[in-house]
Order: sequence, then structure tokens, then C-alpha cells
Amino acid sequence: MSVQHQSSGEHANTPLLDIRNLYVEYLTARGPVRAVEDVSFNIAPGEVFGLAGESGSGKSTIAHAIMRLLRPPAIITGGHVWFKGEDVLDMPSDELESFRWREVAMVFQSAMNALNPVMTVGTQIVDVFHTHMRMPKDEAYDRAASLLDLVGIDRQRINDYPHQLSGGMRQRAVIAIALALNPPLLIMDEPTTALDVVVQKEIMQEIDQLRAQLGFSILFITHDMSLMVELSDRIGIMYAGKIVELAAARELFDNPLHPYTQGLMSSFPALTGEKKKLTGIPGAPPDMIDPPSGCAFHPRCSQVQPMHKQVVPQLREVAPEHFVACHLY
Ligand SMILES: Nc1ncnc2c1ncn2[C@@H]1O[C@H](COP(=O)(O)OP(=O)(O)OP(=O)(O)O)[C@@H](O)[C@H]1O
Ligand SMILES: [Mg+2]
Repeated sequence: MSVQHQSSGEHANTPLLDIRNLYVEYLTARGPVRAVEDVSFNIAPGEVFGLAGESGSGKSTIAHAIMRLLRPPAIITGGHVWFKGEDVLDMPSDELESFRWREVAMVFQSAMNALNPVMTVGTQIVDVFHTHMRMPKDEAYDRAASLLDLVGIDRQRINDYPHQLSGGMRQRAVIAIALALNPPLLIMDEPTTALDVVVQKEIMQEIDQLRAQLGFSILFITHDMSLMVELSDRIGIMYAGKIVELAAARELFDNPLHPYTQGLMSSFPALTGEKKKLTGIPGAPPDMIDPPSGCAFHPRCSQVQPMHKQVVPQLREVAPEHFVACHLY
């Protein structure tokens, strides 16, 4: 794992991933669920971009759209997903397998259970090298051992079966498999929720060190706002399928503008504090089959005015690199 990704020179300002006006619906028996609506953001080489928002706000749907993993009843009704200048949504299906391993790898929600229980961890990593790089078994085995070292698992554990590993180690093994082919983008969708807070934090900090060392970018999805603020360069806040605020992590933490973001930010005490249940936002997220008119957040907003119930707020830059979709600004 000594290869460094290009993060300097002429490509430095070109985003690695550039999502433009993405729309995704789920066609359900009750009607279409507008899960993602007009979402745009980009991720630079080496950048950690956080996506935050309550359950059902559309985070995983975006991740699956990037990976081209959406299946009916999901349909992408508009937009582009540019990756290194190519629209992933137009990519021929025979290129997808290679795209998913070499360019973008994903650690899924509840990834701890993603390992094959009847194969050793080593064999599962060797398989990736063998299948995708046609690497001879001996060499692949050496690489697998190095990869285990890299993610903090003793290489002696290479012949262990998943059940012989702790939850944290299984999580690390899944991350090792995702990183096997050195993809420039790693998507982590709630990667560590099943682990205790301390282990969660430790693993994510180590991943961040690896990122600094190897230069890959991360799309990081989590409900843990303190971890998100700590690890992300920029954060997009999602509400009811839309990005309602986007800014540098520190700026968002110090100066949240959207009342929803203010609620999220006030529901954890400090960057280093204990994880706490969200208490800052009254009410529940809307039913996405019949979302509220105007600003979708208006039924829960303490600063709502009559006009907010009719007019949809647009995402606008209200301070340098700080975007918000709220009528108050
Ligand atoms: N297969 C499906 N069929 C119908 N609706 C779906 C399907 N998958 C997701 N949805 C709906 O799409 C919306 C977005 O879901 P998504 O899973 O992307 O949210 P999320 O932000 O990842 O939530 P969580 O934090 O709980 O993982 C929700 O309203 C959800 O109910
Ligand atoms: Mg999700």
C-alpha cells in the first residue's frame, strides 16, 4: 500500500466526485417517495466530506446512487454523478464491477456482518487481489497480511474466521477489504454504529490517518455529529432529501445557520463529549410521500413565518463557502 493517489499538481482543483442536481425516487404502492431532490456537492482528492441528517433524509440513497447500486423501486429521475470526469450514471454495466472496487469502495451500514462466515479473513482479502488484479496467490497472501497490519489487525490473525474476531476487528477487516485496491474514494455509511463509542472513535481516527497517508477521499455518513465534525473537512446537512446547509466542518459547528443544523449541533455537548440522544429538534422527519409545502422543515421550525409554508428556499451562499437553504437569510 505504498502507492499515493494524485492529490497535487494540475488536478488539485478538479473534484474527484461531482454530484450535480441528483434526483432519486422510490416508486412505492402509496406513491413516489422523493428520497433525493436536487442534491449537488463535490469531493476533492483527499477530502473527507460528511453527510449528516436524521434517519430517512436520503444519505444512503445518495451513496447507493454513486455506486450505481440502486435497484427498483428506486429510479434516478435526474442529475449527474461525475467521477474523474466520467458520468457514473452513463457508465456501461460491464465497467461497473471494476469501478466499484478500483475507484470507489463502500463500507456499508452494519458492515460488521458483511464478511463471509465460512472463509478466513485472509482468504477473503486474497480473493480480491486474485480476482481483480490476477495476482499470484503467494503475493496476494503477503499483500493481505500487510493490509491487515495497515488497519491494525495483527497479521497472525490472517487465518482466523470472522467469528474468532471481535466486532472491532471484523469492522477493520471489512475496511481492509474495501481499501485493498487502493480506491481514491471510500464511502463509509454508518460504518461503526454497532460498536461501542470508544472503539468507533478509535477506528475512525485510524482510518483518517490512513487517508492522510494514502491520499484517498472519504464520503462519511454518520449520526454521530461530534465524530463527523471532528473528522470531516466539509459537511452537508440533509433534511427531507435536500441539502439544507453546506460549509466547512468547523464553520458549521461554530456558526450553524439553518435552524435544523442548529438543532443537530446543539444536541451534542462538545467535540470530545459523550454521545447523547438528539434532543435539540422537536417533532419527527416528514413523510416523504407527502412532504410539507414550502420549506419542508417549517412544521418543526421555531422561527417559521407564513411565507415559509409556501415558498421553497433555495440553497444560497450567504458567507464565503457557506451555503444555506433557509428564508431567514
Ligand atoms: N427500498 C425502498 N423503498 C421505498 N422507500 C425507500 C426505500 N429505501 C429507502 N426509502 C425511503 O427513501 C428515503 C431515504 O432513505 P435513506 O435510506 O436514503 O435514508 P438515510 O438518510 O440513509 O436514513 P438512515 O439514517 O436511517 O440510514 C426514506 O424516506 C426511506 O423511507
Ligand atoms: Mg442510511
